[in-house]
Amino acid sequence: MTTWNFSSGPAILPRSVVEKAAAGVLDFKESGIGVLECSHRSKRYEPVVAQAEARLRKLMGISEEYAVIFVQGGASLQFAQVPMNILSSTEVADYTDTGTWANKAIKEAKLFGKINVIANTKETDGTYKSIPKTLNVTPGAKYLHITSNNTIFGTQWHEFPNVDVPLVSDMSSDICSRVVDVNKFGVIYAGAQKNLGPSGVTVVIVRKDLLGKVDRPIPTMLDYRTHIDNGSMFNTPPAFGIFVLDLVLQWLEENGGIAAMEAKNKAKAAKLYAEIDRNPLFKGTVNVEDRSLMNVCFVPVNKDHDALFLKLGTERGFVDFNGHRSVGGFRASIYNAMPEAGIDAMVQAMQDFEKTHG
Ligand SMILES: Cc1ncc(COP(=O)(O)O)c(C=O)c1O
Repeated sequence: MTTWNFSSGPAILPRSVVEKAAAGVLDFKESGIGVLECSHRSKRYEPVVAQAEARLRKLMGISEEYAVIFVQGGASLQFAQVPMNILSSTEVADYTDTGTWANKAIKEAKLFGKINVIANTKETDGTYKSIPKTLNVTPGAKYLHITSNNTIFGTQWHEFPNVDVPLVSDMSSDICSRVVDVNKFGVIYAGAQKNLGPSGVTVVIVRKDLLGKVDRPIPTMLDYRTHIDNGSMFNTPPAFGIFVLDLVLQWLEENGGIAAMEAKNKAKAAKLYAEIDRNPLFKGTVNVEDRSLMNVCFVPVNKDHDALFLKLGTERGFVDFNGHRSVGGFRASIYNAMPEAGIDAMVQAMQDFEKTHG
């Protein structure tokens, strides 16, 4: 039986990437030693980091005005590291509260400057179903922070706010899933473990002119400039993570790049949402126009069907397709690496469920 991994992250990776990564663990570049056992300063390994950066720059169209670094600590550390590096204690930054992760970013940012939450889409029941449609940016704000895709609730900014300040985005769950104009952003950060590779490596894309201007000392390891000046090799980098990330980027190149991926992602999500809307036994959980192309959340109309559909899906090889505990129901995370056949399997299960329980 085929297994379909709908995990929200760490998440499905392209099969060919996993095979190459496994081969590299056994023998890296025919050296007789595996990539896990290899010095990051060796001639064998060192080019991988520069290669991954070059691939990402080309795929995303990142200009020389920006630095690209690979760091540790996950997106959660970026919630603090972004304001620590670019927001002085007297300055204002605007934030949008569109979900659990956005909320956590706000909490950390408040440690570093004056934070205005200019939009909050939290519902009275504690969930989030929408993306703000109008924003009034604070005059003089240093940046506007958004979470481009809200992994837990399944909403996504389909159009980025058109504002005069640089955008800062947590793109953990939709980086490289669609074409983005990087020039609108001051900082883009993303934990790799959804669309880019394994956990343990975080991508940061930062406009260089924003750095070196804050009114506080920054610990060496948390200063972006440390990692920029040392090509992400100031200390031992997350070497295996960057190795796999490079393989994922290579796979993206071989599969038509980000524009081709975006087209596939749109088609996959449309197919699944169409079934959610057609099938009388299920319903979506968020505003239709704000639905995420990455995390498709839905619930059974009849609560008693929760356990029954979980059982059916499990019998069909679906893994980790239950919704986040704060939403319930189901969440199919359908990142870049999820083939259309995985969507077909989910749609088929929903249709068969309707036949037996409708
Ligand atoms: C949108 C978003 N931001 C941040 C995080 C937290 O990332 P990390 O676990 O890498 O700190 C996640 C994790 O799922 C996420 O989906």
